[in-house]
Amino acid sequence: MCGIVGYIGSKQAAPILIEGLQKLEYRGYDSAGVSVYDGELIQITKCRGRLMNLECKLTDSPLGGSVGIGHTRWATHGEPSDLNSHPHTNTNCTISVVHNGIIENYLYIKEWLKGEGYTFITETDTEVVPHLIDYFYNGDIVDAVMKAVNKIEGSYSLGVLCSNEPEKLVAVRKDSPLIVGLGEEENFIASDIPAILNHTRKIYLLNDREIAVLTRGGIKILTSEGKEVIKDIYNVTWDAQAAEKGGYEHFMIKEIHEQPKAIRDTMTSRISKDSDEVKLDDITLTAEDLKNIDKIFIVACGTAYHAGMVGKYVIEKLARIPVEVDIASEFRYRKPIINGKTLMIVISQSGETADTLAALREAKAQGARVIAVTNVVGSSVAREADNLLYTWAGPEIAVASTKAYVTQLIAMYIIALYLARLNGSMPVEEYRTIRDEMLSLPEKAEELLAKKEEVQKFAAQNFMHKDIFYLGRGLDYTVALEGALKIKEISYLHAEAFAAGELKHGPIALIEQGTPVIALASQEDLFDKTLSNIKEVITRGAKVLAIAMEGKKDAEKSVDEVIYIPKTLQLLAPVLEVIPLQLLAYYTAVQRGCDVDKPKNLAKSVTVE
Ligand code: F6R
Repeated sequence: MCGIVGYIGSKQAAPILIEGLQKLEYRGYDSAGVSVYDGELIQITKCRGRLMNLECKLTDSPLGGSVGIGHTRWATHGEPSDLNSHPHTNTNCTISVVHNGIIENYLYIKEWLKGEGYTFITETDTEVVPHLIDYFYNGDIVDAVMKAVNKIEGSYSLGVLCSNEPEKLVAVRKDSPLIVGLGEEENFIASDIPAILNHTRKIYLLNDREIAVLTRGGIKILTSEGKEVIKDIYNVTWDAQAAEKGGYEHFMIKEIHEQPKAIRDTMTSRISKDSDEVKLDDITLTAEDLKNIDKIFIVACGTAYHAGMVGKYVIEKLARIPVEVDIASEFRYRKPIINGKTLMIVISQSGETADTLAALREAKAQGARVIAVTNVVGSSVAREADNLLYTWAGPEIAVASTKAYVTQLIAMYIIALYLARLNGSMPVEEYRTIRDEMLSLPEKAEELLAKKEEVQKFAAQNFMHKDIFYLGRGLDYTVALEGALKIKEISYLHAEAFAAGELKHGPIALIEQGTPVIALASQEDLFDKTLSNIKEVITRGAKVLAIAMEGKKDAEKSVDEVIYIPKTLQLLAPVLEVIPLQLLAYYTAVQRGCDVDKPKNLAKSVTVE
């Protein structure tokens, strides 16, 4: 949802901005642009399309100067075009702004500013910002930014450059991510850590409405009232290599291969062979608290919502507490019944998804306890929830989520076990069985990844079909939904998932001769029923790839292809089962010549409603 970056120091700004934007391109790739102060004026280069277009322009006409801001856009207001690209400026180009978020009252501000004599040349919401700052500018850019953001409603992270005060770079955020990086005689702003990781590991995490004033020699953080804030420095510990492709053709395939490690890291220190307890340092629920909880809501979007569906199943099964799982954008507007007896679990890889954050705030306002499951340290969701469980997937760069999803599943199992041990609903023997099996999942995921050629072959034979269907029952249905989403988003095939038992109530009409169907059949107690549903589609001409647990030889007799996942508890099967589905989406997209890591119309972090 747009990426912003800024630099002030003694080096040339433009190459540093471009390098940062390369790392942020996953956030949007409709257009890109930079502004650099050249010692006299603010110079802007921007254009529609991928960052590469901007790089070509800058190679032809380089921009010189050691302070600047940059932007990569995911269009919301105004089509992707050169004109609508950021940075935007005031009329005489003394103030330049990059923005991530949505200015909800921009039409009102625009009309008002027009009345004050300002003219607008773009269709964007952002263009009101430089004009508004200009309106309030009276020789002090920090004061003008403060006054301008007071008038703005909506979400924003802003980077602001002013040619009258080029020794400063000003940044401010509300409900959109922004970090500030501390260097030696140089400082940075960015939407995300990888953008500046080659330059510094020391960062400040800005809170909503805080303003950062960067100079070459230092950084001042102010509240919205102008009071200085003293902040702790957060030291990034992960390796810069983690945010590079490391020899793989795409980030997505690299991240699929990182899943065994991500699963292991997310379990480490929380469950272990030596202990019969789940250790969760950032969750403060007591057995007494849990007695008062009569309902759990799990709220998330997209892939994270699919992980939540698994969460409902396992928490209800193991901890015997009723769970409702909801899509955040629906939850927030449907007036759910929440009170002090509610526990809310929000799941968000980025920790910045606007709807998920709004649902979290609503739940807190109604008195609920909130556990956040997120992959991004210091993200909004992490900071606002009262209990926290980080998934340690490492940076996920490909737009299609893979390793974050499997770690979200692990988080769901860990929370379910934790609650079950806390309320005494699970005998220790059962706990040990599940725990030990969970600890073996990384090796089993490795085993499965070694079979990737089987999936590649199926993809090569079926990538030309226009539709693809996914079937499953129980937990398999939740994974079917995730498999269908994955293939839709990166290969643009029409894909749909159905609860296998629902097929005959309508969707079976869609099955034609040769239609590919991916049938998930890992659930032992539902295996025969799923097999019957598989036969129903085969009778109507479907070509079926089944995913079944090792040893279920019956599957082979009925279908065209079977991929066996290593034997595990059926409760844990989603963690393994999703891997062939991710690979299928990946290889199908590659066969179809799609841009795997940057699918059209999508962006990684959805900070708008
Ligand atoms: C799909 C995907 C999205 C995200 C969704 C929520 O591959 O990644 O569906 O899961 O946008 O994002 P987070 O988890 O950041 O809240």
